[in-house]
Amino acid sequence: MTYVLGIETSCDETAVAVVNDGREIVSNVVASQARIHERYGGVFPEIASRQHILHIVPVLEEALAQADLSLEEMEAVAVTYGPGLAGSLLIGVNMAKGLALAAGLPLIAINHLEAHIYANWLDTDREIEFPLVCLIASGGHTNLVLMTDHGKYRALGQTLDDAAGEAFDKVARLLGLGYPGGPEIQSAAKDGDASAFDLPRAWLKGTYDFSFSGLKTAVLYLVRDYDAKREVAGGNDGVPVADIAASFQAAVVEVLVEKTNLAAKENAARQVLLAGGVAANALLRQQMAERVSVPVLCPPPEHCTDNAACVAAVGWFKLGSGQRAGWDLDVVPGLQLVPQDSTS
Ligand code: KG4
Ligand code: ZN
Repeated sequence: MTYVLGIETSCDETAVAVVNDGREIVSNVVASQARIHERYGGVFPEIASRQHILHIVPVLEEALAQADLSLEEMEAVAVTYGPGLAGSLLIGVNMAKGLALAAGLPLIAINHLEAHIYANWLDTDREIEFPLVCLIASGGHTNLVLMTDHGKYRALGQTLDDAAGEAFDKVARLLGLGYPGGPEIQSAAKDGDASAFDLPRAWLKGTYDFSFSGLKTAVLYLVRDYDAKREVAGGNDGVPVADIAASFQAAVVEVLVEKTNLAAKENAARQVLLAGGVAANALLRQQMAERVSVPVLCPPPEHCTDNAACVAAVGWFKLGSGQRAGWDLDVVPGLQLVPQDSTS
């Protein structure tokens, strides 16, 4: 038994978890601030860090209580130090330092994007087969990476503007839906016709890069057109929210699936992994499974979004390979998975 305590505060979830041997979740507590940020249609950084301060201790106590373990029974404390909001990351990193110092445990610094990837190996005995291609699609990132071994990544492509999740959030706002936008659009799309509107797909051929801002702008003009027509013609004809949501979702999913499939083929990947909040999307999961020729792994939806179990999972691998952070560990809000000039 090797228990690692994971701490995650990079955005608007205060999360603490205990994971055994890098794969078995012993406890996994997430306090979401989504309801608080809803009124702003996105995360309000200053409020997020204040909420983390309020919640971090109760969430920690709850995670240890649910695990029926004490801090002293942990082998390490793993914490997200980037990417994310500086003020939010600081709360988790300072808490982790305090706990590790007090209990004499090693401190392990975790990249949030890597944590999303490792959610794929929680509570499962699935074999990991390298090389694999991983699509990380979240509120802040959209990256395609080739993973050749534990901790070894090569960047294939990334978004040039909005992240996929950010596009879901912004389009949801345009359509008058709630935050976070992904689940809202997924649910509105159920009653819609995905072929109702032929929205643009940015293929950026010859690259594995993505762009979603043109698609978002196309939805903006569509909504404006409907509003303008109603003003001129009168009546109650509203914006066809379900059809736009379905057409938008189909456009995002098509590009993510095609690029990931091509990357898997061209890199002779043995598996494809989905990670990050957008990987919770049912259409994306279904289309990936249908279109990609190698096995597609994706965490259960609740492990796709931010949590600390996946932070503890990476922490266990890093503990095994001797990686330790110093007491001078600082937050790195713009941290990347693969440094720009590196190839492995
Ligand atoms: O990974 P995550 O929890 O936080 C970040 O690291 O950003 O991802 C949150 C993002 C949000 O943009 C949210 O709208 C999106 O994931 N998301 C979804 C779904 N569930 C969450 N997007 C599409 N479909 C979903 N079902
Ligand atoms: Zn995340």
